[in-house]
Amino acid sequence: MNNRKTSYQFSSGLRWTHWIRAIAIFALTATGFYLAYVFVAPGISDEPVLFLNAKMRMWHLVFGFLLIAATIFKIYLFIFDRTSRLERVSFIDFLNPKIWIAQIKYYLFIGKHPKLRGVYNPLQVVAYGSLYFLVILISITGLVLYVHSYHEGLGGFLYDYMRSIEVMMGGLASVREIHHIAMWGILIFVPVHIYMAIFNSIMGKEGSMDSIISGYKFKKPEN
Ligand code: HEM
Repeated sequence: MNNRKTSYQFSSGLRWTHWIRAIAIFALTATGFYLAYVFVAPGISDEPVLFLNAKMRMWHLVFGFLLIAATIFKIYLFIFDRTSRLERVSFIDFLNPKIWIAQIKYYLFIGKHPKLRGVYNPLQVVAYGSLYFLVILISITGLVLYVHSYHEGLGGFLYDYMRSIEVMMGGLASVREIHHIAMWGILIFVPVHIYMAIFNSIMGKEGSMDSIISGYKFKKPEN
């Protein structure tokens, strides 16, 4: 390990937005399941305290706006940040069929890892691209649902824009359904992502799990 060189792969902005989004997705899934199926209700009381559903929705929205903010900032970094150049370069590997084949062989344990120019292999580009599609879809449908509960401020400002999206999506019931299905898409991505991160860390021996915390990977001497 001593003769290994470090290589700076992920900026602090990228790492912060990664973990903020991970926590937000966890919180949104927990509160989202509650909103979809109210599995617990407070005991009956004369006092005006029976607002569990509204509280769950409030926390859902807090983390929802956090997710939206972190995603917008991450997209900004992807386009403009100097360290994120390696992410952008991944598209060159994505267009190379030889790298596709070599990468699939590597995952099937029948070939060596291809030498990449960027930080992501073509399969990662597809997986992360799909995740962004789902996060944008769940955010837009979430905002349509939001403007129906909060009519002042941002809710009032977005109301007319969101109403047209609602009509395009076939009404509020379909918006809710699309929001829910997008959640399942994200829930399929998460365990595959964690499995692949562990796989790459064990097989690549470059400390790739460490890189999303420290920003650095340990390059093998021959690289
Ligand atoms: C990973 C991200 C998210 C997940 C997993 C998620 C999950 C869910 C689920 C499962 C529901 C219940 C839908 C149903 O009735 O079947 C829901 C409702 C809702 N979500 Fe999300 N959501 C996410 C992001 C967002 C965002 C970004 C916003 C808006 C900023 C948002 C706003 C809402 C609202 C307003 C409701 C309706 C609450 C109600 O019925 O009063 N969600 N969400």
